[in-house]
Amino acid sequence: MNCQKNHQSLLHWYDGFGRHELPWRNSSDVYHVYISEIMLQQTQVSRVQEYFYPNFLEKYPCLEKLSQASIDEVLVNWSGLGYYSRARNLHKTAKLTAKSGLPTIQKELEKLPGIGRYTASAICSFGYKQPVSVVDTNIARVLKRFFALSEVKDKVVWEYANSFLNHNDPTHHNLALMDLGSLICTPKDPKCDECPLTNSCKGKSDPTKYTQTKKTQYENLELFYGVCIENSKIAVQKSTNKLYHGMYELPVVDPIEEDFLGSFKHSYTKYRITVSLYKVENFIEEVEWVELEKLSQIPLSSMMKKALKLL
Ligand code: ADE
Repeated sequence: MNCQKNHQSLLHWYDGFGRHELPWRNSSDVYHVYISEIMLQQTQVSRVQEYFYPNFLEKYPCLEKLSQASIDEVLVNWSGLGYYSRARNLHKTAKLTAKSGLPTIQKELEKLPGIGRYTASAICSFGYKQPVSVVDTNIARVLKRFFALSEVKDKVVWEYANSFLNHNDPTHHNLALMDLGSLICTPKDPKCDECPLTNSCKGKSDPTKYTQTKKTQYENLELFYGVCIENSKIAVQKSTNKLYHGMYELPVVDPIEEDFLGSFKHSYTKYRITVSLYKVENFIEEVEWVELEKLSQIPLSSMMKKALKLL
């Protein structure tokens, strides 16, 4: 295989069709790259680009500002993004690195809370412009098809990524592979006739063979919350549920049918949740009282915001 030709063809395609407008790709600040990568882990590019990324950076323009904020405030500003452990890890990492800056060595980055191999490599490649390979789900699909790798371990895909890295322009090479996976080499119906790597692609006769899509196994969950409002204050609790750790929620109660107020459905991660609300007068467990007007100042999940809207 002529690697040089494929590299050139890939970069040429990226020049013409890559997503150059994404704001984190036009920043030379490693902190911006870091924030974008954490947000993009489980949230759509368009939602991150249009709303969460600019708002979060306006609030926390650097590691130091983020490290000085309280975790409750960070969680308020993460509200709507879900997967709140990302925000807790971000805050921990900011505290650990505010003075020194984010490490420049991939293995050092991987020791920080919430930073795995992919995020560390993305920070090194896109932030520090180091000649390292990057493998996310899009790039993995491209490589598996290109090299016809079926049922291989992640480690093997990383090895192929290393061997295919373009050392003349590693950063754009990685971004190009990412966009190729997102725009052309899609899980279903890849557009092989528009692909710059099609001539050397070993998987193009049967592209779906190399993409075992794991079907999400959804789980049903029922949650019961109590509603008690007194003197313009509402009872809340810090969630003990692992999913919402650190967030506030209405107090959890045992359901009593005659006090039923209403219910709604909500999807979160792999859960299909039915939330039911009940009128309550006394709580067995300790609760906190928050003025209704100040609810926007405490961290609430989208699910809790829905519940409060229903009220
Ligand atoms: N550019 C850099 N990292 C990205 C990511 N994770 N998703 C989309 N575009 C990106």
